[in-house]
Amino acid sequence: MTKAKWLALAILLFIWVGCRKNDPVPDGTDDYQAVRSPQLPDELFAYSTLEFPDTWLNDPALQLFGGFGSDIEVTDAGATLGRVLFHDPGLSADGTVSCATCHQQARAFSDPVALSTGVSGIPTDRNAMALFNFKYQRRMFWDLRTVGLENQVLQPIEHPDEMAMDLAALPAKLEEITFYNGLFEAAFGDATVTTERVASALTQFVMCFQSYSSRFDAGLEDGFIHFTESEEMGRDIFFNGETRCNQCHSGKNLFSTQPFVNGLEVDYAAAGDGGIGALSADPFDDGRFKTVSLRNIGLTAPYMHDGRFATLREVVDFYSDDIQAHPFLDERLSVNGFGSPGQEPYALSLTEQERESLVDFLETFNDTVMVKADWLSDPF
Ligand code: HEC
Ligand code: HEC
Repeated sequence: MTKAKWLALAILLFIWVGCRKNDPVPDGTDDYQAVRSPQLPDELFAYSTLEFPDTWLNDPALQLFGGFGSDIEVTDAGATLGRVLFHDPGLSADGTVSCATCHQQARAFSDPVALSTGVSGIPTDRNAMALFNFKYQRRMFWDLRTVGLENQVLQPIEHPDEMAMDLAALPAKLEEITFYNGLFEAAFGDATVTTERVASALTQFVMCFQSYSSRFDAGLEDGFIHFTESEEMGRDIFFNGETRCNQCHSGKNLFSTQPFVNGLEVDYAAAGDGGIGALSADPFDDGRFKTVSLRNIGLTAPYMHDGRFATLREVVDFYSDDIQAHPFLDERLSVNGFGSPGQEPYALSLTEQERESLVDFLETFNDTVMVKADWLSDPF
């Protein structure tokens, strides 16, 4: 090769490397601000006035858990800042990953893959959870290891496989980005960035993910007159006391604050993830996981803590035919039912039509408002 050709190749390589470097969102530089600056409404959205309907607030079962959410007060400016932070990949070490990368609004703030990938490219240990209705939840993660949403929200920023950002360096990084000055000032009185303020704003925003509008909720109001025959059959199967679905995924929020063993494995630790058992080393806790809400369940595939089931049909087939004889399988999933000792798994052997109906009914839990709400969307 001639000298000129070498030079041309070197220049091409230089340009190529240069371009690639600009691919991820560059952080804190003038370029970054020119390309990415949040589009926010002129008048702040009234986050502080968002509230659950009276039917929820007056529900005796939910009233018990109503104080479980964060004590942090939601202000319009605080949640607005939280909205920007939640959607900003600039919070990650290399400017490529935001909370919304793994918690996508259209999927009720979950991720359509079994395991997510963040900055490192190494898959997360578990399936990214859907995020909503934190007013009623105190314990976070599949194994409930963190108490309080405000104590959770900084963890993904630091986690090496999620956003991999050095928390100590985060305030200075954000203070460099001009649009954050005004947002912090509006939310907290001055432009100083601290990790506590970041946690507060993220908590305020995530507290605004409220999900209570679905075809199921409309049915509760109008006596289910708009349900199809199949959805009605599925509703009966869910509540009839034989499947006992509603004995764990219960009440208006279709969840439990108690973790349960639902029999995915005979021995979860041996299968690779002991859940709460991996923290307590108590065999009673092997495979005990958070009993997540079934709201939005048609939007949040794949399913279970490891995303093992790709579809709701696979979930229904599992509950019908494949529950494992775990030594501490919850009694509700055993032949004898709640209150009667014995861990022999029930075998529902649902018919084809019953399976389809149950899936159709589960789809009526999908939210119609939260997943499209402008005020929760990506402002960039
Ligand atoms: C790389 C993917 C990824 C990113 C980025 C990410 N998360 Fe998550 N998130 C997960 C996974 C996976 C879990 C479940 C982890 C577990 O249980 O061990 C989770 C769990 C949660 C939970 C617990 C929900 C519950 O019901 O218990 C909250 C809250 C949450 N994330 C908020 C956030 C926030 C806020 C951000 C941004 C600061 C964020 N996440 C960034 C993957 C991610
Ligand atoms: C003993 C309590 C219990 C009963 C009864 C029960 N579940 Fe579950 N369910 C759980 C737990 C706990 C999990 C999470 C398990 C895991 O990920 O390891 C779960 C997970 C799920 C999921 C996946 C949630 C997600 O976001 O990935 C669906 C869907 C589901 N259950 C539907 C049902 C249906 C339908 C029935 C009735 C046929 C039912 N469940 C009965 C406790 C129960």
